[in-house]
Amino acid sequence: TNRVFSGAQPSGNMHLGNYLGAFRNWVRLQDDYECLYCVVDLHAITVWQEPAGLTHQIREAAAAYMAAGVDPARSILFNQSQVPAHSELAWIFNCVARLGWLNRMTQFKDKAGKNREKASVGLYIYPNLMAADILLYKATHVPVGEDQKQHLELTRDIAQKFNHDFGADLFPEVEPIIQDEGARVMSLRDGSKKMSKSDPSDYSRINLNDDADTIAQKIRKARTDSELIPETPDGLTGRAEATNLIGIYAALADMERTAVCADFAGKDFASFKAALTDLAVAKLAPVTEEMTRLMNDPAEIDAVLRKGAERAQALAAPIMAEVRAAVGLLG
Ligand code: TYM
Repeated sequence: TNRVFSGAQPSGNMHLGNYLGAFRNWVRLQDDYECLYCVVDLHAITVWQEPAGLTHQIREAAAAYMAAGVDPARSILFNQSQVPAHSELAWIFNCVARLGWLNRMTQFKDKAGKNREKASVGLYIYPNLMAADILLYKATHVPVGEDQKQHLELTRDIAQKFNHDFGADLFPEVEPIIQDEGARVMSLRDGSKKMSKSDPSDYSRINLNDDADTIAQKIRKARTDSELIPETPDGLTGRAEATNLIGIYAALADMERTAVCADFAGKDFASFKAALTDLAVAKLAPVTEEMTRLMNDPAEIDAVLRKGAERAQALAAPIMAEVRAAVGLLG
């Protein structure tokens, strides 16, 4: 059987990159798969999170999933730390994964920066926890943005080594689902950096809780070049910021870049940005409104997450029992 698992960290504002790279895809997959969507709070605390802020961000992440269209009646929407088996399986994977494998993870190098000695140990072994998230449910498909590809390769390596070491055919081969358009949304200030929750400049990203005026202002201030919109995407070569804005338009409108270029060929960025603003506001305003509405009732969000955790726990328990038996732990 096919099962989908994915998650996002409640480590700041959810943004357009999360929406286009992940959430939008999660929603579509609900029609064809059994889906689990997780707010991965244990991943978030690999870097310092102010405790009261974290609580708020966990609820806001759940609200963002639902506002984007994740339906807790169809999918299992839950919070990672409310299912302790994630941590348990992660420990076992810490003993399966090799130092050499983790040393190759580019996201750790980026996030730890120059002062690696000061990074938390959790940040280093973070990909093992991610593998545990997925394999705890024997999920087969994982919809993510492009930046998570390397972590999914590691997940496959861990599954394979576990199966091999313990002579068990326990874990499936995990397939990433990465869409063409929107898989890599870049910063509005620098087309060579991905849009991210941790960028100090709020102008680098469009947050899912930005109002229409803020969205308009951020798009107006987005970096571009002085050339016109080309007739075809070939004319975007070497123009990172222009490429990004055209890509965002294409993803939001569900169009090919070729069609976007054809529609705006010869226009300047001022008029393109006006059209992009209208489109972004039209697509995002309903999501923002729904998030705000949901956040007015935190008890309801907590109830959804509690219910989700119960359902997730029920799926995880028999798989965890198989794992314990395979390793030789007492039942
Ligand atoms: P996170 O929280 O950084 O991002 C959540 C999802 O959003 C995608 N994404 C983007 N897509 C396109 N352009 C961008 N600029 C952009 N920024 C983020 C991410 O690829 C991701 O799909 N390690 C994961 C969370 C995680 C997870 C998992 C994912 C933990 N366990 C198990 C899948 C399965 C992360 O930090 O995502």
